[in-house]
Amino acid sequence: MINAEHVRNDFPILNKKKQGQRFVYLDSAASSQKPMSVIESMSNYYKETHSNVHRGLYDASVEATRLYEESRKKLARFANSQPEEMIFTRNATESLNLVARSLGDQLITKDDCVLTTYLEHHSNLVPWQLLVQRKKARLVAARITREGTLDMADFEKKLDEQPKLVAITLCSNVTGTLPDIKKMVMKAHQQGAVVVVDGAQGVPHMEVDVKSMGMDFMAITGHKMLGPTGIGALYGKKEWLENMPPFLGGGDMIKEVKIQQSTWNDLPFKFEAGTPNISGAIGLGTAIDYLNDLGMHQVRDHEKKLFKHAYGALSERGMTVYGPSDADEKSGIIAFNIEGLHSHDIASILNERNIAIRAGHHCAQPLVNALGAVAMARASFYVYNTEDDIDQMVLALSHAQRILGKSK
Ligand code: ALA
Repeated sequence: MINAEHVRNDFPILNKKKQGQRFVYLDSAASSQKPMSVIESMSNYYKETHSNVHRGLYDASVEATRLYEESRKKLARFANSQPEEMIFTRNATESLNLVARSLGDQLITKDDCVLTTYLEHHSNLVPWQLLVQRKKARLVAARITREGTLDMADFEKKLDEQPKLVAITLCSNVTGTLPDIKKMVMKAHQQGAVVVVDGAQGVPHMEVDVKSMGMDFMAITGHKMLGPTGIGALYGKKEWLENMPPFLGGGDMIKEVKIQQSTWNDLPFKFEAGTPNISGAIGLGTAIDYLNDLGMHQVRDHEKKLFKHAYGALSERGMTVYGPSDADEKSGIIAFNIEGLHSHDIASILNERNIAIRAGHHCAQPLVNALGAVAMARASFYVYNTEDDIDQMVLALSHAQRILGKSK
């Protein structure tokens, strides 16, 4: 099992106190904190070997290229893919936009259907809206159940409309719901659809094997998995990536350039125009080392334990908790409301005690609305959170309930 008190010591920001109160960080779904090893690997790169990649014949550039490509290999191994199938991007949003533009513009034509779900973050919804608007096609969304799980019967019914592309999340950023991706990919493929998975909230928290899950594409972000901001990736099956046109044009993505036309570099460089986020990729590689050392099974088990602890405490106190109640069906996220209190007020009250959570619509308005709310408070857990963190939050929430006379 993970010893979170021990892990916590690796994260310098968590030692920051406010009026003597320890920093309780419960907003890792928005962005995780960074261990010292990640911070050091990035500053070492700048101190010792900064230069551009894939261009220089001198030592520093060769070393920068080695470190950058080593990180790609680590990420590829982490998701069980090949390095040439792992394209570095800025974040999961950019990865999804890459697919929507590069593949979507070729694949989707007038009246075609794109199928998504009510579980999605705006980043796995808006790029498809823009695509269907460009193409005069249709966007259809599979419903969710009252409990906040995906309605599989509705998903299968909507597959009968023969969508050419299916976009689904690996894990909801609001409810933590984990749809049965393997089954959904299999069903979507039976209808001939390409499957794009938003892995932003799933990859940091569980073992993910793109080969056995079978998706065609998966978007990844680094900053939610202990890595820095500004680095993410797109996993894509080689046969798709080879046949897609580039997303952005510029240096490094070409083989030969003439005034009127160019030919494209090999994978994955065809999709990496311009100087990439080298320090970000190196930091992400170090973050993957850190997660591998902990073990992704342990990460998942730790978060399940924290969720159970939080769920028991919040529901006992009469708070409305959204999403599945079974820890096996969700990740370490708990979204909730307190009657009579706006979620922004909940977050502000917690902040007074140096406890950080997120509040609002969580960039997933269709989901929040489908669950009958306009805003929610959300606590999200990671490897450095302890049961004591949750107890601190519950104490502060009970205090808020008492002040407002809403305690049960
Ligand atoms: N997608 C991030 C979240 O859920 C920002 O908070």
